[in-house]
Amino acid sequence: MTSPINDLKNLPTVDGKFITIERFLLDTQPQYARGDLTAILYDMALAGKIISSQTRRAGLLDVLGLAGKINVQGESQQKLDLIADDIIVRLMDHTGRLAAMVTEERKEFVRIPEKYRKGSYILVYDPLDGSSNIDTNVSIGTIFGIYRVLDDDTPGILEDCLQPGRSLVAAGYILYGTSTILVYSAGQGVHSFTLEPSLGEFLLSQENMRFSDEPDFYSFNHAAGKTWDKGMRQYAKWLRDEHDPRLSYRYIGSMVADFHRNLTHGGVFCYPGSPEKPNGKIRLLYEAAPLAFLAEHAGGYGSNGEKNLLEIVPSDIHQRTPVFIGNRYLVEKAEEFLAKYKE
Ligand code: AHG
Ligand code: MN
Ligand code: MN
Repeated sequence: MTSPINDLKNLPTVDGKFITIERFLLDTQPQYARGDLTAILYDMALAGKIISSQTRRAGLLDVLGLAGKINVQGESQQKLDLIADDIIVRLMDHTGRLAAMVTEERKEFVRIPEKYRKGSYILVYDPLDGSSNIDTNVSIGTIFGIYRVLDDDTPGILEDCLQPGRSLVAAGYILYGTSTILVYSAGQGVHSFTLEPSLGEFLLSQENMRFSDEPDFYSFNHAAGKTWDKGMRQYAKWLRDEHDPRLSYRYIGSMVADFHRNLTHGGVFCYPGSPEKPNGKIRLLYEAAPLAFLAEHAGGYGSNGEKNLLEIVPSDIHQRTPVFIGNRYLVEKAEEFLAKYKE
């Protein structure tokens, strides 16, 4: 029979210690940030738990649906983007910590209702990234970034939402995979927490994540190869045929999951532009910039193929950008190829 002590061995620990996300945030955030920012991060962890339980339930309902007992397949899954979006807004809009939010699912930025106090932070997020993977039970995630307002006297205006990634004070993601994990950085290292489902707690599982010096993977949608320009085609060829023969290919189609795998094992994720769609598909504000911030704090680099993604000032909240992100030298190699074949 398994003793309770043996069961404890299954819990994530760091140096043999159990550290909850709450404890970690309280202990590691600098004094000045131990208020609203810490609370927003903690609220995002809570959002992650709720979204995790909803996405896992959708999978269960899907199985029951296939058994003919209940058929919510399709419709409920489509709605998960909106459910996740709604969960975050309802958790965040009344706390007095935010001045505005930007989400993939709403055309305009979200204003804090008049009846609530406005705070000093802006939350940008993609409630479910990779949602086309939901119906096949493949990993999806939530990506988020947190900015400070530009002016405390007039907070919550569009300009507050159009800040470059360089101004992020924190960013992270929650990945709903074989386990649910939360990865974040507030500028001092990148840390990951694993949700222990029976406790409902995120426990620290890795402190100070860094891209491996010996990357294992490259990731992009090869089928889009026919639309690429010469620089990208040559770069893909270099990765496949000419660079390290150890380098293997993986593409999930959920950028957050592809990013996480590459962060864990080293690698590069690309979603390039093409002559028809020069800005590609990925959104700058709530997909590319938060991941570029995390990449930089883990020793990596995010680029639009020409320059650092963190330097781009958005002119539209839903602006798209080409993305090359991962180990610095692999991303810089992409920039080199693109520059070389640029007309
Ligand atoms: P979202 O589900 O938030 O719309 O984002 C999906 C994005 C990204 O996660 C992924 O890398 C990319 O779409 C996949 O696109 P392709 O199917 O064109 O490869
Ligand atoms: Mn997305
Ligand atoms: Mn999405």
